[in-house]
Order: sequence, then C-alpha cells, then structure tokens
Amino acid sequence: MARHFLDLRDFSKAELQSMLDMAAAMKAGQWTGQPLAGKTVGMIFEKPSTRTRVSFEVGISQLGGTPLVLSTRDMQLGRGEPLGDTAQVLSRFMDAIMIRCLSHETLEGMAEYASVPVINGLTDRSHPCQIMADLQTMIERLGSLSGQIVSWFGDGNNVAASWIEAAVLFGFELRLAGPPAYRPDQGLLDWAAAQGGRIHLMEDAEAAASGATLLVTDVWVSMGDEEGTRLTDFSPYQVTEKLMGLADPSAIFMHCLPAQRGLEVAAEVIDGPQSVVWDEAENRLHAQKAILAFLLGEAG
Ligand code: CP
Ligand code: NVA
Repeated sequence: MARHFLDLRDFSKAELQSMLDMAAAMKAGQWTGQPLAGKTVGMIFEKPSTRTRVSFEVGISQLGGTPLVLSTRDMQLGRGEPLGDTAQVLSRFMDAIMIRCLSHETLEGMAEYASVPVINGLTDRSHPCQIMADLQTMIERLGSLSGQIVSWFGDGNNVAASWIEAAVLFGFELRLAGPPAYRPDQGLLDWAAAQGGRIHLMEDAEAAASGATLLVTDVWVSMGDEEGTRLTDFSPYQVTEKLMGLADPSAIFMHCLPAQRGLEVAAEVIDGPQSVVWDEAENRLHAQKAILAFLLGEAG
C-alpha cells in the first residue's frame, strides 16, 4: 500500500520533523540525491495555481524526475470518467500523483484507488504542503516551533485547518480570530481538543495579536467560495500595522499567497519589514521536495 500525503495528522511529529530537516538540508545545498530519477510525477489541477504548480514542477525536475501537468478540463475525468478508473490508469504510468481539487472527497477517492502515493495540493478542506513550507519558514525565522504563539486572522478555511493540525502535532499555541460563522470544522476542533491542542477561538483581533510571534492570514474568498457578505464580515480582521504593533516586537507576518492588499492584509504589512512571504513561497519548493523524497522511500 502506498503511503499518501493527504493531511499532516496522517504523520507523526517525528516524521514531519524529518521532512523539515531534509527540506532545510536541501535548501542549504547539503542534500543532492536524485530519488526521482527515472520516475514521473503527475499533477492534476481542478483549480488555478501558481506556486503549487511551479514549485512541484521545478522540484520534481531537481530530484531527477519528470513532471507531468494535467488539467481536469483536458482529461476524461472532466467528462465524467470515474475517479477510480482514472486513479488506476494513472498509477500504471506514474510514480506519484499530486492533485489540487475542489472537493476533499476527490482527493480521498484518488488515494483509495491509486497504487502510487497521492499528495494533497489543496482541497476545500486543507492545504498541508503549504503548512510544511510555513513551518520551515517559522524555524528559519523564529528558531523553533515550540513556544511560538501563532495568530490566524479571518476565515477558518483550508489553510487554517492545516495550521490547526500543525499546532496540535508540534505543540505551539494557535489563536484563530474571526467571525463565529466562519469557524473551522467542528470535527477538526474536537480532534484538536482531544489531542490536548492549544487552539483558541477568538473574536477580538487585537486580543489575538497581543504578544503573538507570528501573524498569519489568507484571502477572505477562497477558490470555490461565493463572496456574499464575506468582505464586510471579515473587515475587522484585516492584518494592519496596528495589529503588528501589538504583537511581540520580533513577530513575523506570513501569507500563503495570492494576497489581496487592502482586504485581509494592509500593503504596509505584507510589503513591510516583518513580512517573510517571499521566503515562505520559496520554501514550498524545498518542503515539497522533502515530502516527495520521503514518500518515494529513498530519502538520505
Ligand atoms: N499558496 C498557494 O498554494 O498558491 P497557488 O494557489 O498559487 O498554488
Ligand atoms: N484559501 C485559499 C488558498 C489559496 C492558496 C483558497 O483555497 O483559495
């Protein structure tokens, strides 16, 4: 049975830490293995992407493999071919499959039928590859994961869900500041509570920012969401210079990108001295290379 990368909580802290260590070594040029030599990794996109697509494509090449980008618009999948049939056929051609899809069930269906590793490249429910890059960035900039206070502002969305899993697994405090109607999935919150996670749901943005070592946000309207009243509902949660001023003096700002300046984050913050968004984006490459090396079983 292939090991898939569907969500962070499918892995132990030690496994994730070993991937983060490998990602750091890769970034430093100390790890030059070619575990994907002679292998092909397919990437299926049901939604747009810049960072995920390019970082996976470049990373697969750097590991010696061949990337193959597929859009569901051009596949029989887009005309109704069963997911299970697609997964079984692709498994005969490829050594791993990354998929970005609208519904998390599509990812799970692909993993159920594929005989090669399947990687979550973002669903409506989670974005674990992003958070691996974010953890790498935290370690680089803050020195450690433990002891940090991470404050999330806005939508309790797919990226927030993967932050919750990371906070539980690595034991840092996570404050989620947003309107109650946009809270993360209750099942995930219950899991986090049962694991002893330090996850705090808050409505007051200033209280959430107070003393935080990392402020993080994401778009207010994710791919597949209706705008509705979201822009009004989330307006108290814009990450402003005032919020940054309430945080720890050495706090950093992160955003998975793409960003909407003037909505979830003020331009002065994302383009300011505490922002680490370009390092965060670069780390997608290193973190995902480590995930691929781990899954394909030839790390080290
Ligand atoms: N952060 C992220 O996943 O970006 P893309 O949508 O450009 O892949
Ligand atoms: N929450 C955003 C993340 C984009 C990388 C979305 O799903 O559109």
